[in-house]
Amino acid sequence: MSQLILVFFLLLHLSHASSDVPDDFIFYGYNKSSMELGDEAKVGPNGLIQLTGGEDGRLQQFGHVFYSHPLQFKNSSTGSVLSFSTSFVFAIISQNQNSRGHGIAFVISPTKDLFRALPSDYLGLFDRSSDGDPSNHIVAIEMDTVKSQEFSDIDDNHVGIDINGLKSVSSTTAGYYTGRKSTLFRNLDLAKGDPIQVWVDYSGLRKQLNVTLAPLRTPKPLRPLLSLTRDLSHLILQSMYVGFSSSTGSSESTHDIIAWSFKMNGEVQPFEIKKLPKIRTDGHGKRDQRRQTSEALVVLLSVAATIFALAIILAIVLILRRNIQFREVVEDWEIQYGPHRFKYRDLFVATKGFKDRELLGRGGFGQVYRGVLPKTKIPVAVKRISHDSRQGLREFVAEIATIGRLRHPNLVRLLGYCRRKGELLLVYDFMPNGSLNKFLFDQPELTLDWAQRFKIIKDVASSLFYLHHEWVQVVVHRDIKASNVLLDSEMNGRLGDFGLAKWYDHGATLQTSYLAGTPGYIAPELARTGKASTSSDLFAFGTFLLEVVCGRRPVEPGAEPGEVLLVDWVADCWDRGALLETVDPKLGMDYVAEEAELVLKLALLCSHPVAGARPSMLCVVQLLEGDASLVEELNANVLGMAEQQMAGSHEKVSLSASYLSQKDSVSSLTMTEELIADGR
Ligand SMILES: *[C@@H]1O[C@H](CO)[C@@H](O)[C@H](O)[C@H]1NC(C)=O
Ligand SMILES: *[C@@H]1O[C@H](CO)[C@@H](O)[C@H](O)[C@H]1NC(C)=O
Ligand SMILES: *[C@@H]1O[C@H](CO)[C@@H](O)[C@H](O)[C@H]1NC(C)=O
Repeated sequence: MSQLILVFFLLLHLSHASSDVPDDFIFYGYNKSSMELGDEAKVGPNGLIQLTGGEDGRLQQFGHVFYSHPLQFKNSSTGSVLSFSTSFVFAIISQNQNSRGHGIAFVISPTKDLFRALPSDYLGLFDRSSDGDPSNHIVAIEMDTVKSQEFSDIDDNHVGIDINGLKSVSSTTAGYYTGRKSTLFRNLDLAKGDPIQVWVDYSGLRKQLNVTLAPLRTPKPLRPLLSLTRDLSHLILQSMYVGFSSSTGSSESTHDIIAWSFKMNGEVQPFEIKKLPKIRTDGHGKRDQRRQTSEALVVLLSVAATIFALAIILAIVLILRRNIQFREVVEDWEIQYGPHRFKYRDLFVATKGFKDRELLGRGGFGQVYRGVLPKTKIPVAVKRISHDSRQGLREFVAEIATIGRLRHPNLVRLLGYCRRKGELLLVYDFMPNGSLNKFLFDQPELTLDWAQRFKIIKDVASSLFYLHHEWVQVVVHRDIKASNVLLDSEMNGRLGDFGLAKWYDHGATLQTSYLAGTPGYIAPELARTGKASTSSDLFAFGTFLLEVVCGRRPVEPGAEPGEVLLVDWVADCWDRGALLETVDPKLGMDYVAEEAELVLKLALLCSHPVAGARPSMLCVVQLLEGDASLVEELNANVLGMAEQQMAGSHEKVSLSASYLSQKDSVSSLTMTEELIADGR
């Protein structure tokens, strides 16, 4: 009875033991509760199992690790070995390729205490006496990195199946089969430091033991590296321990188990790569560290390359877009005007993209923007003209080039131009004080004193003299008026806007063209014939003089009936002996009467309805410079013109020096009224 009870308890204990100890496990690194380390084995960095080696690794040592519990390897009723499957990831890091050693082995053993063991060639599994002893009941799968003569090793980098001894039953060079038909063999260097995964599968039914290797992250090859058909029933006992053994010899090597899984009666589940402990990175692991660094570098580089490629694509797109935005029209014939041609891009930058905030003004021709040239930091005014078919563009650009060559301190300098499809840009010197118009009429709070006005008059006269007489060709401005006179930073007058200018050789005359100019400034003969000339410029200049002195527009529709036309009103006042009444009231009494009188008389003479009666610019300049004799002759000339007018002579008479020298005592005052009335 007591025996029965004992058997009962024994059975209970056995069943309890077998059900309590799982024969199906997966470990990432060392598991304290389920593993037993032996000899030199220890827990390595990151929790991996370090069988031998490490920082304090010595030569000629061995280490073991075993699953703490024995596993039931046999069907208790039939006594045949059950199918089992195990997989593990290991890494062997050798100091250098010339001193490797020795190896690592998966062991199925009846005991965890392999006390009869030696390092180096013996892999910590056997010693001289136990090697080959059938009572060992040990099956080992060795990953051997040293060619041992003693055990007839095939090479220094092989995998073998060992049964009770180190002379492998089956062995082959480490590697794996790959390719579609698994015929491609790839070598694996066991001691390179790279993690290698091993699968050991036994089929109890077919009595077949397969060993398969592959680099970590490579799926399990279909074809095993080693396959041994053998009934292990007599070898494997009912209860066996599983674990690992490794040894070093005359060189330092580190043998690590990174992960391990086991399954009885089935196939092991694959490892989750992200759960694997990181491989050691101490002195021995430099190779691996380097590898990881290089892997990181590869990732970084590929990311960088992608970003770079995207950046290039973006840049190309932007450049294409900019090219479209900044596209200009350039033709061969324009090359000769090279220096005057600006890059659209520069002008775009200069004017901050033609922002409204930079707008200086709007005219009949287009808008004018303030800008600062990006390279030279020169302030400029950029006139933007939508070009139409009014004029052949080519001709227009040629004209621009001509204007660009004009150089006079009292001309607004054309620095250059830029041409785009449907658009023309003219770049001028920037005039900080804007147009004279502003000071005369537009802004009552601004005013110019007499000295400034007289200076501006002389400036404009000087520039017009240059255009008419001093340049290689005769340039007719055709649009002289206060709003086209600009003031620089020192309040110097500068004639600008050559939008209508025409030129011809000295001695020739201009061909008839369309009528251009501004009402109130157009000479009568110009209105009749459409022929612009220096004389018609003088007519407009006369009107300009009146504007400056009187501070009035040439035509004031809202004024008293006799004062609508400025020139009529001034002539009327002259006739009444009250010429100075026409002087701008804003000046008060602060003006030089002689100068004002001179300018007013000159203005009337220039505004003479008969072209021939108007003085030349030479004469005008001399008068303004205060040539006393000419001042006297001014009146005489007006009178003389009036006499000719009355005599019915419409011949062209120039205000020549000889003519001026004929003195006449007849009062010009009485004549002027008739003269002007006649001419109108
Ligand atoms: C160790 O193993 C036991 C049983 O296999 C498991 O329950 C436990 O979670 C493991 N511990 C670690 C830290 O993996
Ligand atoms: C043991 O063998 C018997 C007979 O072949 C079978 O029925 C049983 O399932 C086996 N047990 C195990 C654990 O495989
Ligand atoms: C061993 O490998 C062979 C060939 O691939 C395969 O047919 C067999 O099923 C494998 N045996 C085990 C136990 O995995």
